[in-house]
Amino acid sequence: MLADSAASRLMLLLGGLSKNEWSNIMQTIGADEAIKQWDLSAELYAGYCSKYGDINREVLLTPLILDILGMVEGRSILDAGCGEGYLSRLMAERGANVTAVDYSERLLEIAKELTEDNTRINYRHANLENLEILSADSFDVIVSCVVLQDVPDYQTATKEMYRVLRSGGECILIITHPCFSSDAGWVKDASGKKLHWKIDNHFYESGFEIPMSSNSENNPIGFHRTLTSYYKTIINAGFKISDLIEPYPSQDKIEKHPEFVDDLRMCHFLIFRLIK
Ligand SMILES: C[S@@+](CC[C@H](N)C(=O)[O-])C[C@H]1O[C@@H](n2cnc3c(N)ncnc32)[C@H](O)[C@@H]1O
Repeated sequence: MLADSAASRLMLLLGGLSKNEWSNIMQTIGADEAIKQWDLSAELYAGYCSKYGDINREVLLTPLILDILGMVEGRSILDAGCGEGYLSRLMAERGANVTAVDYSERLLEIAKELTEDNTRINYRHANLENLEILSADSFDVIVSCVVLQDVPDYQTATKEMYRVLRSGGECILIITHPCFSSDAGWVKDASGKKLHWKIDNHFYESGFEIPMSSNSENNPIGFHRTLTSYYKTIINAGFKISDLIEPYPSQDKIEKHPEFVDDLRMCHFLIFRLIK
């Protein structure tokens, strides 16, 4: 799968537009427009997922998330941007009471189809920018896995997550690493050998397509923002940052998936552990 790999993210620099002009256009894209692209990509996206999510999650994120969560039995957890629902199912299997929210109706349908036992998962259709369907202070934990970088109004969405978390509760917020996602990708030689990871245009905050495969036409949209923007958004929402993790593959995982040795050369994801 190409999604989430900054290596594969292409800036949509259309003929003649300057970087600033392109940024301005992309900043006007709203959640309703952006989510249509997720609906169109839903089958393809879900097709990349195993019980533990796509291969990036399986190797780099899911074991870490489950470890951070620890014992979840009886806890009320919001999966904010659940996609096809693998994480909700893993948490529900461990006894959590999960509310799984996504704005893509098609992904929610797929998530429901994949859920054999829905006694502990309540799938809800909502935009993270407006969680009025959820009460304030109602969750012990929020997990949002690789979602916020795809939400146009990420500041309001972060405030909404703060509002629905109970005081003292934890939010595990995972985003694509903002220091490696701008105009980024592997530079390869003629034989395909990865020479180095390129980044450029860090201070141009802008949207870009996330190619779901080498020939997909309907791609979701993600947004590059600086680390400072995310930091300020999190602090302004009211959260305290208790930890920051840059996940890398364990030796065990590299033995099983040797291609992940290159994930010791750059970092795809950033995990914030946040306390209300
Ligand atoms: C990269 S996928 C991650 C899905 C899932 N958390 C996972 O780890 O596989 C991003 C998800 O965010 C959802 N999403 C994007 N914008 C959203 C919004 N404004 N409100 C709620 N969900 C949104 C998409 O529909 C998609 O399911």
